[in-house]
Amino acid sequence: MKLLALPDQPLDIAAVAAALGELACRFDLDIVAECDSTNARLLERAELGAPSGSVLVALRQTAGRGRRGRSWISMPGDSLTFSLLWRFPPEMALDGLSLAVGVAVAQALEGLGIPGVALKWPNDVLLGVERRKLAGVLLELVPGPRPVAVVIGIGVNLRLPSGMPAELQRTAAALVESGLSLLSTSVLLARMLGALSATLARFSDAGFAGLRGEWLIRHAYQGRAVRLLSDFADPLDGRCLGVDTDGALLLETAAGTQRIISGEVSLRAASTEKEGEGAP
Ligand code: BTN
Repeated sequence: MKLLALPDQPLDIAAVAAALGELACRFDLDIVAECDSTNARLLERAELGAPSGSVLVALRQTAGRGRRGRSWISMPGDSLTFSLLWRFPPEMALDGLSLAVGVAVAQALEGLGIPGVALKWPNDVLLGVERRKLAGVLLELVPGPRPVAVVIGIGVNLRLPSGMPAELQRTAAALVESGLSLLSTSVLLARMLGALSATLARFSDAGFAGLRGEWLIRHAYQGRAVRLLSDFADPLDGRCLGVDTDGALLLETAAGTQRIISGEVSLRAASTEKEGEGAP
């Protein structure tokens, strides 16, 4: 079904709850007009005891945090920007969790009829044949003793801001240009939360190993020649063999197969040297 694009339609708690249906009781949703970073604010709430399933959405984010120290600014109507607090069983290992979140985001988008969604290690969500970045994920561990709690921050580009630098426009994608789009941002959020809840439950049962196949079928660079960029080491060229059961990237290099676990790397198709990025 093709749905009408309404990125300006404001988020509405009642509409999100209605779209979640019986899943609504799993979430405690708060929508604010503006904050610095939904991750930062939800981490604060988590330390004060906020329950698992707490969700903070901001229409505008003034100091949003991205991976590798980047920023992720969100303006009203341009992006869906939210964080979800999830508490895991005390001894749970969280290897591969960020990849599992990427799977959930991709499934939610696909469930809305959006074609051409792909994943880039560790957890970028790409769109279309050009593999431009549609959504970014940033996980932050809540400090403190076990049980383990994580704030899962997600930013999805609904449309690209008009003043966006040309370089970013080349590498970023937005839902409005996907050919299909959404009934409303509230429905998009509800679908994201529903997919996250199901995926995180599976992750708690079987870890990333149980979701690895679903990550791999969406892997944008499977079998491709890639260059791995790091802030601290020389670029590493190789062929991408996929990911291991713990979420490590497997790279076939001149020196043999290497397992890459650091998040401080960027993956680029070796042929183009292009890297998809999200909104600034
Ligand atoms: C990336 O660099 O790709 C990750 C971007 C994550 C951005 C989201 S927006 C909601 C949440 N709050 C933040 O401050 N960051 C994440």
